[in-house]
Amino acid sequence: MTVLERIEKSTAYIQQKLGGQRPQVGMILGSGLGDYADTLEQTIQIPYGEIPGFLHSTVEGHKGQLVIGRRGGQTILAMQGRFHYYEGYCQQEITIPVRVMKKLGIGTVVITNAAGGVNAAFAEGALMVIADHINYSGQNPLIGKNLDEFGPRFPDMTNVYDPALRKCLIETAAREGIDLAEGVYIMFSGPNYETPAEIRFCRAIGADAVGMSTVPEAIVAAHCGMCVLGISCITNMAAGMTGAALNHEEVMETSTRVKKTFTRVLDIVLSDVLN
Ligand code: HPA
Repeated sequence: MTVLERIEKSTAYIQQKLGGQRPQVGMILGSGLGDYADTLEQTIQIPYGEIPGFLHSTVEGHKGQLVIGRRGGQTILAMQGRFHYYEGYCQQEITIPVRVMKKLGIGTVVITNAAGGVNAAFAEGALMVIADHINYSGQNPLIGKNLDEFGPRFPDMTNVYDPALRKCLIETAAREGIDLAEGVYIMFSGPNYETPAEIRFCRAIGADAVGMSTVPEAIVAAHCGMCVLGISCITNMAAGMTGAALNHEEVMETSTRVKKTFTRVLDIVLSDVLN
């Protein structure tokens, strides 16, 4: 099956499961951040394994299902668990869900992740609105025959992360006493964490946070004209910055610790920023 066939098959299956529901907002929930989907109301759950042409999640902390439901006056399609390049999928595959969202009529996608803090001014547990990204993954999800029905061969990437939405989110959160940083996210393929030398390089080229996801999804969303909002949870300071060794447990611990604030920020996104 080609990627396009997989997108079409998955879309048809989800559409039939949705009945009359029409989700307007897509959400990709990263490591340890998937619990937000449990706050949706009147939900329909669709395990990834059930969807023809879709993919299966292999990472601990990722549940592996779509949750469609209501929150903040909107209908959301949330991915509880995402797919990563380091799992062995190609970037054309890991971005199938974004194109499925587009086909379902979703115009805006909120992409979240756990990331390492590269900017020394950040602290563990900070939340960063993604202003821009650096694709350092060594790959690109748009390589291959262009899928013209989604977008052009050479798409512009000047404003991948919608400036008006970012501004609105940061200002609204500030009024509630939630301090959101803004910065540049750089993607490495993983699965190993970066070396201290790589982190010095990241800082030198203008990155504020580093992670192993988000960029392929954002590129594909921008290609098909979707509005993107990206939020990183800084779960740890990046390699070499504190002297401490990095591990996945710490990443999960921090994302669990900030869950309440993170939930509030996503609620602001739905009820204030996107309404
Ligand atoms: N590096 C890459 N990915 C990550 C990190 C990190 O330090 N923390 C959470 N995801």
